[in-house]
Amino acid sequence: MTEADLSLFEALLSDPEALGAFQWFGWRDPGRFRRRWAENGLLADEQSVLTVACRGEFAGFVSWRRARAMTSAPYWNIGIQLRPEARGRGIGTEAQRLLVEYLFAHTPVMRLEADTEDTNHAEQRALEKCGFTREGVQRAMTFRDGEWRDVVRYSLLRTDVRPEFGR
Ligand SMILES: CC(C)(COP(=O)(O)OP(=O)(O)OC[C@H]1O[C@@H](n2cnc3c(N)ncnc32)[C@H](O)[C@@H]1OP(=O)(O)O)[C@@H](O)C(=O)NCCC(=O)NCCS
Repeated sequence: MTEADLSLFEALLSDPEALGAFQWFGWRDPGRFRRRWAENGLLADEQSVLTVACRGEFAGFVSWRRARAMTSAPYWNIGIQLRPEARGRGIGTEAQRLLVEYLFAHTPVMRLEADTEDTNHAEQRALEKCGFTREGVQRAMTFRDGEWRDVVRYSLLRTDVRPEFGR
């Protein structure tokens, strides 16, 4: 993420309308990412962020954070957020496909995981198009806009067959 991207990234995270129905969780320290960026470029062992660029323009970001059921077997939980104008054009699917390839190429994890609210059909479909398997619904996992919300968990194993995407 470049410094120019960082300003757009911060603006996206500070705009409830741009974040949209599923990603606005209330105000938080707006400087937290700039401080982390200055320290490590938002690329760290526990949590990282990359820009999603479309024709050279900042379209949003993907992220991954370390998760583990056992200390000895960590895996990645991934996330994505696009600017409103970038949505519905296949960019979210392609960005997550590229992130999957990147993480399996550069880290030895067996499992990637993604969570999304049960009414977020665009993200569920994008994950399924990347080859993720729906594992189940976790009840009342997240609190947003005055209500507890159910979350669908998806996973993709290194050994799963991944769609070819015309490659
Ligand atoms: C969720 C998100 C990443 C999906 O990326 P996208 O680029 O908009 O989605 P794509 O264009 O790749 O479409 C993926 C699939 O979802 C479908 N889709 C897109 N928008 C949809 C919607 N609002 N409702 C239902 N399906 C939708 C598409 O038709 C496509 O399926 P298809 O190929 O079978 O037709 C993006 O919309 C986004 O950033 N949304 C806001 C933040 C968010 O919800 N992040 C995920 C939080 S867990």
